[in-house]
Amino acid sequence: MNEIEPVVAEGAHSSSSGAEGAQTSPRIAEGAQAWPRADHSTEPACGRAPMGLLAELTYRCPLQCPYCSNPLEMDKPSTELSTAEWQRVFKEAAELGILQLHLSGGEPTARKDLEELVKTASQSGMYTNLITAGVLLTKDRLKALQDAGLDHLQLSIQDVDEANAEKISAYKGGLAKKRELCGWMHALGMPLTVNAPIHRANIENLPAIVEFAVAMGANRLEVAHVQYYAWALKNRAALMPTREQMMKTVEIVDAAKEKYKGIMVFDFVVPDYYASRPKPCMGGWGRGSMNITPSGRVLPCHAAESIPGLEFDNVRNKSLSDIWLTGQAFEKYRGTSWMKEPCRSCDRREIDWGGCRCQAMMMTGDPTNVDPACGLSPRHAEFVALATAESHVTTPPPFVYRRLGGTVG
Ligand code: SF4
Ligand code: FES
Repeated sequence: MNEIEPVVAEGAHSSSSGAEGAQTSPRIAEGAQAWPRADHSTEPACGRAPMGLLAELTYRCPLQCPYCSNPLEMDKPSTELSTAEWQRVFKEAAELGILQLHLSGGEPTARKDLEELVKTASQSGMYTNLITAGVLLTKDRLKALQDAGLDHLQLSIQDVDEANAEKISAYKGGLAKKRELCGWMHALGMPLTVNAPIHRANIENLPAIVEFAVAMGANRLEVAHVQYYAWALKNRAALMPTREQMMKTVEIVDAAKEKYKGIMVFDFVVPDYYASRPKPCMGGWGRGSMNITPSGRVLPCHAAESIPGLEFDNVRNKSLSDIWLTGQAFEKYRGTSWMKEPCRSCDRREIDWGGCRCQAMMMTGDPTNVDPACGLSPRHAEFVALATAESHVTTPPPFVYRRLGGTVG
């Protein structure tokens, strides 16, 4: 069986950061990078500014996607940063040299002050990208966001089969609202990325998803196989496609890239479980981006809280710049000095940075182990076998839906 490299994307790598439905990196301007390319430089990563900031404005969301990248224990709405706190953070981010701001959640449009936040970020000079499920937006609000300086919108979709989309999101009428939103985007001339998390429950509809994105006038389609963290990990047995299904998506995307050359750009993220080498998660720990939770904790990646022993600073107590330069959680796995074999002597150690610390923790119990997605990991065969076994179960288990304050089977 062929093994494939972790990420097949046009012009941009992927991470596993994301929002309500987006398990992959927020996409940005054409040709821009989600993080600095590996350059084999020995320059300390903290000696340069992060490129991107993912601001999780709230964990509130009307959808309940079973692959949400938000943690199982979510910050309560009452603890969210205030408008003034976010505005201060955005100014600090711009001063630090951050170029791209991804406004995410939960559902960021649940924040009534979103226009104010976009305006501050835009006036500070950052490129602003709204990552949304789109169902709460109105035409007037979209226009207000554009007027406030919003540069780009990334719309997540669950499926283009309405009944299936409703089953996946536990939300009725979402697809019609998304279509309507795409029409407004088109009328306003705003750049649009459609993000389609792909898994066992929608993988057979990928050709129709491609056609949907084209019909909606998207500039970019992110075909993002679900990455198995947080809620997706909890639902892995219900979501994991077979390797054969995954390989078929490679063919579909390759053909679509050819067919829609010059019309729509594709990003393609394969599931770690069927990769031969890991993704350079977050472009390397503490190298290119920061995540801020709704209540202000600053994380090197969205799942970092799953790693014991890390101390997360809060923007309420410390400047973003101090956190980036000296924060314990950022320093811990920055660079290569923490690595053990096989990564330590591997010639890819400054390309993929040993893969994903959180996945190493989840699957091996030690974040300094090589990511089991790597074929050189002693746990790789076991990792692949797990996916193979789960994906071949005839009747997958029901979804455990993402909910604030508890899970519902
Ligand atoms: Fe990457 Fe480590 Fe695997 Fe080498 S051994 S390919 S550095 S994960
Ligand atoms: Fe990969 Fe945390 S999700 S390092």
